[in-house]
Amino acid sequence: MCGIVGCVSAENCYEKIFTALTRLEYRGYDSAGIAVLNADGVSVRKKKGYVSNLKGKPFAGDTGIGHTRWATHGKPSDANAHPHVCGKFALVHNGIVENYAALRAALVSEGETFFSETDSEVIVKLISRAYTGDFFSAVVQACGQLKGSYAIAVLCADYPREIVCARQGSPLIAGASRDALYVCSDVPALCGAAEYICPACDGEFFRIGEGEICFLDKAGRQIEKTFVRVAPENRAASVSAGTFMEKEIAEIPRALADTLESLQKTDFAPCARALRQAERIFAAACGTALNAAQAFKDAAESEARCPVFCFAASEFRYRDPLIGEKDLFVAVSQSGETADTLEAARLAKARGAYVLAVTNIAQSSLAALADFAIVMRAGPEIAVAATKSYNCQLLCLYYLTAQIKFYRVQEFPDWFCRLGELPAAAESAFGCFPQISVLAAKLKNERAMFYLGRGADVRTAAEGALKLREIAYIFAEGYAAGELKHGTLALVEDGFPVLAVSTSEKLAAKTENALAEAKARGAFTVILSQNERAISESCADFGCLLPALPEKLMPLVSVIPLQYFACRMCLLRGFDPDKPRNLAKSVTVE
Ligand code: AGP
Repeated sequence: MCGIVGCVSAENCYEKIFTALTRLEYRGYDSAGIAVLNADGVSVRKKKGYVSNLKGKPFAGDTGIGHTRWATHGKPSDANAHPHVCGKFALVHNGIVENYAALRAALVSEGETFFSETDSEVIVKLISRAYTGDFFSAVVQACGQLKGSYAIAVLCADYPREIVCARQGSPLIAGASRDALYVCSDVPALCGAAEYICPACDGEFFRIGEGEICFLDKAGRQIEKTFVRVAPENRAASVSAGTFMEKEIAEIPRALADTLESLQKTDFAPCARALRQAERIFAAACGTALNAAQAFKDAAESEARCPVFCFAASEFRYRDPLIGEKDLFVAVSQSGETADTLEAARLAKARGAYVLAVTNIAQSSLAALADFAIVMRAGPEIAVAATKSYNCQLLCLYYLTAQIKFYRVQEFPDWFCRLGELPAAAESAFGCFPQISVLAAKLKNERAMFYLGRGADVRTAAEGALKLREIAYIFAEGYAAGELKHGTLALVEDGFPVLAVSTSEKLAAKTENALAEAKARGAFTVILSQNERAISESCADFGCLLPALPEKLMPLVSVIPLQYFACRMCLLRGFDPDKPRNLAKSVTVE
C-alpha cells in the first residue's frame, strides 16, 4: 500500500529517501517517486514500477519527499505516481479523498489543468490556490476542504528547509536522528535512520524545519508531543537466502516463545474490569487476523461461556452494531494500521465499549487508540502473506481467553499450563515439510482446492485456503466439512483436491465421512491429523501427521503445514510469495 517518506537533512537527502522507500517495498506498490527542493525549485523523478527505477544521478538538495504508490484512483503510470506538483508545491499523499471528483470538477471549471487521474492531485492544487505567502496556512485551508482520509507531506519552493505534514485517518509519523528529521507513514521506513519517533494523531499537523519538528493544530497552536525510541519490533528485517515468507515460517517457534514470554509479563489488571464484567464481547479484524478472531470466538465462548460476536471489520463499521458501554471490543491487526479495523475500533469506542487491541506494532494507530493493547512479539513480518503473526495472534487471543475465564470464574483453562509446549510443537510441525513438498509438487497445476474442517479446524481450513489464494493464485475455499454435501460436493470430480484438517477426536469420524464422500466422487483426498489412526485408516490418499498437543491448542500448529504448502505451491508455480499481485501488506485505505 502507499508509503510516504520525507526528510530535512544536514546533507543531500536523495539517497536517504531512496533507501527509506526501498524499506517500504514489502508493503506492495506499483510506482514510486521522489521530489527534492533545490535552487531550481522542485526536482521530481517518478516512475511506474520498482523503486530501483528512481536510481540515477541524485538530485542535489537537503529537503525532499518520496512515495510508493498502490493504485486506487487511476492506473499505475508515471503520471499517476507521486509526488504531484503544482506551482511551487510538491505533495505525496496516502489515503483516499472521497470528494475528489467534486473538487476536481470545480478546479477544472476554474481553469486548472490536471496531469494525472489521481485524487491526490486535487490536494496540491488546493494548496497552491490557497497560498498567499504562508505555507502552513495554505495546507490547513486545503485540508479543510477534504473529505475522506489523508496523510500528506508537502514541499514549498519558498520554504527551502521545511516539510508540512498533515494526518487524518491515515498513519503519519515524525522521526528524528542526529543528522536528519523525517516524516514517514510506516516506522520500518526509518529503520537504521531515525532513533526517535512520534506518531501524529488525526487532525494534527506538523512542520519539519530547521532542527525541529513542531506539532500544531489547525489554528496553528502548538501541541505537546513526546518522542519515543524506535521499538525493537521495528528493527530492520533482512533475508540472506530464500524468501521472507520462508524465513518467517521458520521463525514461528521463536515468535511463539517471545510472545508467550511477553504475555506472561503483561499486567492485565488495567483491563480486569472489562474482562470480568463485559456483557458481550465483539471481535473484528480483516483477512488472516479475522480468521484468528474467529478462532478466538470459538475458544472464548467455550471456555469463558460469554457470547462473542465476530465480524469482518469492514462489515462491522457499517452495520450500526448493537454495541455499548457494557461490552468489550477486541480488535486484531498485525500492522495496527488496517483502515477498516481502525474504523471499527473507533466506532466501538464512540459507542462506549472498552477497546482491547491485539497487534504486532506497539506504536501503531490501533495500539494508540485502544484502552489496552496486547502486543505480540512476532518480530517484523515483511512477506505480504501473514504467517508467524497468525500463530502469535492465536497465542495472544488464547491467552486473553484464559484471562477472561480467570477473571470470571477464578479458573484457568486446563490447556493454559501447556502453552509452554507450543514452540517445540511448532518446531515438530516442520517435520511435515518434506511430505508437504511432495504434495505441492503433485498439486501445483491444480486450479482449485477445498479445505475442510469441523469446530476449531474450520478456522485453520479458512486460513490455509486464504494463503493458497493469496500467493499461489489458486482458487481455494475453506469451510465446515458438514457443509460439503449441501451444494459444494457438486463441484468435486475426478482428481479434485480436497484437504481436511482433523484435530478433534470427537469430530474426527464426521470429518472423515466428509472426506469419504468427496473421495467417492473421485476427489484426491488429503488429511492432516495428530492421530496416526486417522492417517492410516481414513480414506485419505495422502496423510500428514501433526505433532501431539492438547486438542484445544492444535490450531496454533496445525496451520503451519498449510502455510508452508501455500509457500511451496507459490514457488513451484514460479511466483514470488513475498509480493503477491494486487495485494499490500497493510491496507490503510478502505
Ligand atoms: C494475510 O495473509 C493477508 N495479507 C491479509 O489478509 C491481512 O491479514 C489483513 O489485511 C489484515 O492485516 P492486519 O493484520 O495488519 O490488520
